Order: sequence, then C-alpha cells, then structure tokens
Amino acid sequence: MRTTVGIVGAGPAGLLLARLLHRAGVDCVVLEARSRARVEGRQRSGILEQGAVDTLRACGAAGRLDVDGVLHEGFELRFGGRAHRFDVSGRTGGRATTLYPQHELVRDLIALQLADGAPLLFDAPVDALEGLDGDRPVIRYTRDGAEHVLECAYVAGCDGADGTARRALLATGAARLHGRGYPYAWLGVSADAPPAADELLLAAHDRGFALHGMRSPTLSRLYLQVPAGTEPGAWPEDRIWEELEARLAVEDRPLNPGPLSDRCVFPLRGEVVEPMRHGRLLLAGDAAHVVPPTAAKGLSLAFSDVVTMARGFAHWRRSGSTALLDRYSDHCLRRVWQVQHFAHAMTTLLHAAPGADAYERRLRASRLDRLVGPTAAAAEFAENYAGLPTEVPFV
Ligand code: PHB
Repeated sequence: MRTTVGIVGAGPAGLLLARLLHRAGVDCVVLEARSRARVEGRQRSGILEQGAVDTLRACGAAGRLDVDGVLHEGFELRFGGRAHRFDVSGRTGGRATTLYPQHELVRDLIALQLADGAPLLFDAPVDALEGLDGDRPVIRYTRDGAEHVLECAYVAGCDGADGTARRALLATGAARLHGRGYPYAWLGVSADAPPAADELLLAAHDRGFALHGMRSPTLSRLYLQVPAGTEPGAWPEDRIWEELEARLAVEDRPLNPGPLSDRCVFPLRGEVVEPMRHGRLLLAGDAAHVVPPTAAKGLSLAFSDVVTMARGFAHWRRSGSTALLDRYSDHCLRRVWQVQHFAHAMTTLLHAAPGADAYERRLRASRLDRLVGPTAAAAEFAENYAGLPTEVPFV
C-alpha cells in the first residue's frame, strides 16, 4: 500500500490531521493499534481552548460539539476557606474554554473519516518505521496476523508518549527528551452524582490540590493530589470523600457525594522531544510532548501541532516547497514551551509542595491572592488559560 502521509495513531491528533489533510486534498492512511471500541471508549478530560474549538468548526467537525459542548467562561478557585470565581472570558475579550469529553470528539472524528471514505485501519499495530532519512519511508505494521508495508512520503507520529513514533525519533540520536517529574500524583475518581458546580472547581489547600470537574450532567469527575507512588486502592471511599470535602468544600457549598468508579492514579510530568521532526518523521501531540494535567492543555496543544503540520503538507503539495515543513518543529516548539511553562507554573502554584515550610506556604498564598484581584498577573493567567492565539486552518 502507498500513500502520501502515513499517520500513526487514531487519537484526537491523528484523526484531526487526517480530516485536515483530506480537506486539503492530501491523501493519507491512519493506522491504529487498538480496536475501534477501545479508542472510542477511552475516557479522558475534554477541555478545549477557544482556538481548538475554532479549528474544529473550520473543518466541519463541530456539529455535535456545538450542541453538547459546554462553554466554561471561567472557573472557581478555592483557597483559604473561600471561593473566588475566576472570570476568564471577561479578561480575554470573550475567549474561553469548552468542555466536550475527548471520547465524544474521537467518535465524531472517526465517523467523519469513515464518511469521507478515507482509510482508517484499527487493530493495526505499527512494528517499525524505516527509511526516515530517505524520501520514501516505510511503515511496517501487523493486521489480521499478517505483516504489511505502507510506503509514504512522510510519517506523522500521533501515537502518544509511549508510542513507536517517539521511540523511533529518539533512536535516530537526532533529538533529545527534556523532562521533569513531580513529587506528587493525581488520584482520579468518577462519582455517580450531578456535578456540584457548572464550571471547574480548583482547590489550592495546604493538604494538597483538588479538582472537581464533570463528564455529564449526572457524572462528576474528581481528582486529589496524592504522594507519588500511591496505589489506586490505597484510599478507601470514605477517606477520598473526606479529603475532597476538606480541600474543596466551602461553607454552604457542599459536594454531591455518590458511588465512586474509574479509580486511577497517574504521575504528573512534563516532557518535550526536541526537535519534533527528523527526516521524514514529524511528531504531534503527546508523542512530542506531555504537560501536567492541571491546566488541561494537552488536547489543544496537540491540535495546534496538527494545524501547523497540515498547513505544511498542503503548502508542499501545492507548491512543491518544503519550506513550511522544514520550519514545523521550530514553529511548534515556541508554543509548546510557552504552554509547558504555564502548565508547570499552574501546577506548582496549586499543589502543596511536600515539606514546604510556613514561609513557603505564605509565599504561595500571596501569589494566589494576586491572581484573584484585578492585577496584570490575573490578566496574563486568563490569556494563557483561554489559550494563546492559534492559527486558524486553511480548510
Ligand atoms: C477532567 O475532567 O478529567 C479534567 C479537567 C480539568 C483538568 C484535568 C482533568 O485540568
């Protein structure tokens, strides 16, 4: 089989890229290791920056999002026993975030891809990427127990932080991985109860960070900062609710308790592969970078890579010039580091550093205090939270 762009991974990044390329008349094939049911069932946060929503609208992929997406014009920050509404859109000239669960978005993009008749192969794990330094790279993959070869002009690696594409790029020796871990993790749970608020609640408590979000009008999603290495089963349900109440609840505004499910613990980390391209392999999304989840930036950052990449391919296809593709990594990395910086700053501001003394706790409180006032710090925070300007796609 042959194509122009071989896309590895049918997550949001790979699927949006396929959509943009299809609209630009550049043919592509998407290969996905997992089954369609697994891809569509993978529950993840779905906070989209304004620019990500604009991108989906521009390429005709926002039909259900425009009906079911929930606009979040701000969020609530709770600290020192008080709740402070943080108005994002009022500080950014109307830009805000939208909540639309990631698996719904993935379903929409898969349906569009199949309706376009564009090749999308599930249960097709990639075994190797070869010939990345030449002009006809090859993707080797397995399907139905047989080995197959996809010849392409370029390979787009959209298969996440643990995927084949990142490993292949690092194995060339031409890129390095920058990264940092944090001395804490998140314990995540879903509660079968209506969310206690319409917008996200974020708590910066001396006992640790806590977050209250939602998946639907009847399902809440909650997170607690826990020490790195905590086992998911280590905390009984009572203790989870007690801790959520202690960190998140303020007077007269209780949480809505309910049975817990979907328990998980994941470490927080920030990672950047630099450069994001070598030869004919270009990385996008988590394959290229991971941000700690506090600022909910992962999905929108992936979309911003993909818009830049699709623009490069369309330009090359039209003019024969690789100028935009050659600038792909430099162009993306500017934004990647800005978002990395914001996610890191928001993480360290809202989490309790293990072993912090009273002096450090007071410094943190004073920074939080600046954020809820009419300050330049608040304006800058709002701008970053709503999202830096994104290129609007050309299709
Ligand atoms: C979620 O809904 O799972 C969620 C929301 C906001 C975050 C992280 C996760 O920052």
